[in-house]
Amino acid sequence: MMRAIGLRSGWTFFTLLICSLISLLVLLLRHTTAAQSHKKNCNLFRGSWIEDETNNYPLYNSTHCPFIEHEFNCQRNGRPDKDYLKYRWKPHGCSLTRFDGGAFLKKFKGKSIMFVGDSLSRNQWLSLVCLLYTSQPKANYNTTRVGDVSIFTFLGNWIYDNSYPFYNSSICSFIEGQFNCQGNGRPDKLYLKYKWKPNACELPKFEGLEFLKRVKGKKIMFIGDSLSLNQWQSLTCMLHAAFPKLNYTLQRKGDVSNFVFQDHNVSLILSRNAFLVDLVKEKIGRVLKLDSIQNGDAWKGFDMLIFNTWHWWLHKGSQQSWDFIQKGDQIYKDMDRLVAFKEGLKTWSNWVESNIDPTKTRVFFQGISPTHYSGKEWNASKPSSNCNGETQPISGSVYPGGPMAATTIVKEIIGNMSKPVTLLDITLLSQLRKDGHPSIYGMNNNNGTKIKKGNDCSHWCLAGVPDTWNQLFYALLLDQQTKSSNTI
Ligand SMILES: *[C@@H]1O[C@H](CO)[C@@H](O)[C@H](O)[C@H]1NC(C)=O
Ligand SMILES: *[C@@H]1O[C@H](CO)[C@@H](O)[C@H](O)[C@H]1NC(C)=O
Ligand SMILES: *[C@@H]1O[C@H](CO)[C@@H](O)[C@H](O)[C@H]1NC(C)=O
Ligand SMILES: *[C@@H]1O[C@H](CO)[C@@H](O)[C@H](O)[C@H]1NC(C)=O
Ligand SMILES: *[C@@H]1O[C@H](CO)[C@@H](O)[C@H](O)[C@H]1NC(C)=O
Ligand SMILES: *[C@@H]1O[C@H](CO)[C@@H](O)[C@H](O)[C@H]1NC(C)=O
Ligand SMILES: *[C@@H]1O[C@H](CO)[C@@H](O)[C@H](O)[C@H]1NC(C)=O
Ligand SMILES: *[C@@H]1O[C@H](CO)[C@@H](O)[C@H](O)[C@H]1NC(C)=O
Repeated sequence: MMRAIGLRSGWTFFTLLICSLISLLVLLLRHTTAAQSHKKNCNLFRGSWIEDETNNYPLYNSTHCPFIEHEFNCQRNGRPDKDYLKYRWKPHGCSLTRFDGGAFLKKFKGKSIMFVGDSLSRNQWLSLVCLLYTSQPKANYNTTRVGDVSIFTFLGNWIYDNSYPFYNSSICSFIEGQFNCQGNGRPDKLYLKYKWKPNACELPKFEGLEFLKRVKGKKIMFIGDSLSLNQWQSLTCMLHAAFPKLNYTLQRKGDVSNFVFQDHNVSLILSRNAFLVDLVKEKIGRVLKLDSIQNGDAWKGFDMLIFNTWHWWLHKGSQQSWDFIQKGDQIYKDMDRLVAFKEGLKTWSNWVESNIDPTKTRVFFQGISPTHYSGKEWNASKPSSNCNGETQPISGSVYPGGPMAATTIVKEIIGNMSKPVTLLDITLLSQLRKDGHPSIYGMNNNNGTKIKKGNDCSHWCLAGVPDTWNQLFYALLLDQQTKSSNTI
């Protein structure tokens, strides 16, 4: 029996990694009962077994399914006859659709499917895992077993692609010095050449014209810290590079930058805002108000909003931008930063619930962008090392340092919302890119003057990883029409 867990509907909680991430879980608990036919005029459960004339059966060869359990692997255990493999179930009055692994993965992208039952559930679960695996033999996958729960997940990885990067940063005259790694003298270029390859599908190629068509007449606002700046700048460079002759204007007013393609009437707006909730100067000092979000007045009337917040919640010492935290009437000198982050996000989610009309505004959350300051997270040869000097991604789909707690919180909050918010789940794919940061090549000004000394393992070079975030964003825009069909 299939059941979606923890998900309300396809696009309320449609993470992006998702087309690469299908989890099949099995929990051995109790016996399950029969399913119902989904076809109206044909009872799929009444029929007979016939020998398959097309020679398509069996649907897979068990020796090619690496995780099949011995108890089910009859051929490997020496069963001599093979005829039993050749039969296909034929309902009276219709035919069963042939199992199509690719279509299955597409339909259930981003879903978790759980089989709950005894060893016969395990039997069915393994059959499905083998069917899907055989349809994607080159896919990366992860199987784990924790107690009674087994999980099978399709993942993605970074592969070399000579057609990358999307643009040469030298063409993007308005690029901020901090992202212009090549312009700042970064000597290696391999990091520019990687493409994210989800395993259960291909990311669509970024087509600048198609993007502009889809968003014609629209105002798109990125709201968040400098990682929002990073993604916004990536998108403006990608589009400008696709159409260098297209007229644009770029205006900055205070914390808001507006990049406009007049001919398509498209505005890409960046609003710098580190916490989303309010940071207010009061008599006692700077107060971060976890349950106040008057900032939100400036976010109304846009066609798309892409939010992000995280990094500033962690800063301490001179980097900390508040003196006190306020929740309700309580004033705190400090608190667990994850707890504060969660409270802030709850306030943000309430703002979305009460202020967003989903027929007018589409809301995204740019997922948590990871840093690479600690080499022991990815098993670097020197645990004291950081992103500086890293020239290649981590191969495969697993970040040795494990998932980020902040991502778990984001998913929990978004999963709890009734208004649709799409999570750009960029965390894992970015975690694998220890090579993608500016490191010591992020601190120059546009004209080459050093403005700060340091090592930036937090932002990302452009061209680079945020271009892939935007490719994912683009894939979601293309997927917009089909979003209703993502619901199980
Ligand atoms: C399955 O594959 C193995 C090795 O490729 C082959 O020896 C075996 O005959 C195949 N089994 C069936 C039932 O086709
Ligand atoms: C598979 O995923 C689990 C849970 O996310 C993780 O702990 C484990 O290291 C992964 N397995 C492999 C082989 O990478
Ligand atoms: C970008 O263009 C400049 C000027 O045309 C060229 O010198 C440089 O090698 C190019 N960079 C890359 C990474 O291709
Ligand atoms: C541009 O789009 C806005 C809606 O965002 C619309 O009100 C305006 O009329 C459009 N302008 C032109 C010149 O098409
Ligand atoms: C850019 O704007 C100028 C002046 O408004 C106009 O003549 C030109 O056709 C525009 N270029 C493009 C590619 O639309
Ligand atoms: C880390 O490196 C050590 C030594 O090279 C190796 O034995 C170990 O398996 C690695 N661990 C991971 C998670 O890659
Ligand atoms: C999710 O919603 C439920 C019911 O409204 C609430 O009890 C729970 O605290 C919420 N969880 C989070 C993380 O907001
Ligand atoms: C580089 O730009 C900075 C400010 O953007 C300016 O102060 C400095 O004089 C410039 N240096 C040169 C050599 O133009």
